[in-house]
Amino acid sequence: MAKIRKAVFPVAGLGTRFLPATKASPKEMLPVVDKPLIQYAAEEAEAGGADQLVFVTGRHKRSIEDHFDKAKELELELEAAGKTKLLNIVRTVLPASVSCIYLRQPEALGLGHAVLCAKPVVGNEAFAIILADDLIRNDAKGVVEQMAEVHERTGASVLSVEEVPPNETDKYGIVETEEQSDGTLRVTSIVEKPAPEDAPSNLAVVGRYLLTPRIFDMLEQTKPGAGGEIQLTDAIAALLKEETVIAHRFEGKRYDCGSKEGYLEATVEYALAHPDLGESFRAYLKDLVL
Ligand code: G1P
Repeated sequence: MAKIRKAVFPVAGLGTRFLPATKASPKEMLPVVDKPLIQYAAEEAEAGGADQLVFVTGRHKRSIEDHFDKAKELELELEAAGKTKLLNIVRTVLPASVSCIYLRQPEALGLGHAVLCAKPVVGNEAFAIILADDLIRNDAKGVVEQMAEVHERTGASVLSVEEVPPNETDKYGIVETEEQSDGTLRVTSIVEKPAPEDAPSNLAVVGRYLLTPRIFDMLEQTKPGAGGEIQLTDAIAALLKEETVIAHRFEGKRYDCGSKEGYLEATVEYALAHPDLGESFRAYLKDLVL
């Protein structure tokens, strides 16, 4: 089965939960320690085999474009100042083999609509979708790579899932699954943000998908659903009637950086794991809380 080459990043959301920080820049540019969320996402996609990153942007796309662009003046300044370590950090935001494509989502009509905007670029191949505000840490193997392995083995679409507290089902797409003889979990139904009493399980889809291009046909037929938006979840519900869709219990720790609490947890834990900061930050925290 073919490897995936393309990753789609829907980055047109308003990020209202972080206002005023997100008034003039997208929430995906919020840094966790020293990298913006979108860079962690791009690195994960690249590690999973993607060499074409497709950003579906709305307002404020400039800062994301600039982030992945060459910063000639900055590089010259750092070079002249002999700051080679920083120069290297700036130059290697993405490997040269990776290309970035920017598309505009003209109206905020939902995640499904954002993904559909990428159809002309993705074409007829399976592709990954990453929601950068779900930051998932796994130093050994990123979630895109994990999903790509499942896809290469099965040819199926893959949704990354984890169990959430039963009272939080109304924040996620929730799946019902059936275990197959090979141990994989086949998705038998999916519903967007059900109330706890209506949820078929507490297995939630997180912001990592690997989908076959058939999803575009489904999205084209998807009517606005929850919240009046074109929901990716509804298109996946149609897809799984025709093709196998697998739920993958990913390995790694997820931080919901779309919420202030999750974002703060990520900041603390990434700081503790940071090669330059970790030790002193740990001492500071101990001092602060003891
Ligand atoms: C979106 C999807 C939802 C999914 C979630 C993962 O919701 O619609 O199905 O579980 O991402 O983060 P959002 O968080 O954009 O409201």
